[in-house]
Amino acid sequence: MDITVHRTGSNEAIINLFTRTFADSEGEAEGQVIGGLVHDLLTTTAEEDIYCVTATEDGEVVGCIIFTRLTLTDGPVAFLMAPVAVLTGCQGKGTGQMLIKSGLEKLKEHGVELVFTYGDPDFYGKTGFRPVSEDVVRAPLKLTYPEGWLGQSLAGTGIRPVAGRSYCVEAFNKAVYW
Ligand SMILES: CC(C)(COP(=O)(O)OP(=O)(O)OC[C@H]1O[C@@H](n2cnc3c(N)ncnc32)[C@H](O)[C@@H]1OP(=O)(O)O)[C@@H](O)C(=O)NCCC(=O)NCCS
Repeated sequence: MDITVHRTGSNEAIINLFTRTFADSEGEAEGQVIGGLVHDLLTTTAEEDIYCVTATEDGEVVGCIIFTRLTLTDGPVAFLMAPVAVLTGCQGKGTGQMLIKSGLEKLKEHGVELVFTYGDPDFYGKTGFRPVSEDVVRAPLKLTYPEGWLGQSLAGTGIRPVAGRSYCVEAFNKAVYW
């Protein structure tokens, strides 16, 4: 399996992967919503604000994870990790966690200090994410499930309280995703 980090461009294979995988797990409508989100992330985000990590097997994209900048007022350099998908028939073999780890290594090399995500604490806890109180770092939009706001420090310093707001990239700036 090949793991590759990209920073630019729209990619039909990636959009299709997310649309198919979320349609399988959450239903057709959610597949369309997440496919649309990924299209917007890939086509409207500035190159310096995105990392996209893919897993490819025999020329087919079987997994992908996207990281986009989370701007913290008066805080260190931070990125948001979402969404992630592994093709339904390829799940449960460690690909999801490999994508997360590869992405975190790349971000660390590039001087990123904090990474946040919004999701299942059990799954993301396996790769170092821990619950973050919004008293410590505020999510960019109002959260439906505040217990799903997770983060980790890549600098080994822990997450110190950050005053002020956080800002996601434009593609994520919709209440439906939060
Ligand atoms: C979530 C997802 C990316 C995981 O990919 P994967 O390659 O199957 O994951 P891995 O094989 O690396 O890890 C599997 C482990 O995570 C757990 N896991 C997988 N999906 C999980 C989920 N949705 N919730 C909680 N735990 C989950 C498995 O139980 C397994 O645990 P174990 O190692 O203790 O047995 C994949 O299942 C997927 O694409 N799901 C549909 C889309 C989705 O829900 N994405 C996440 C939200 S953005």
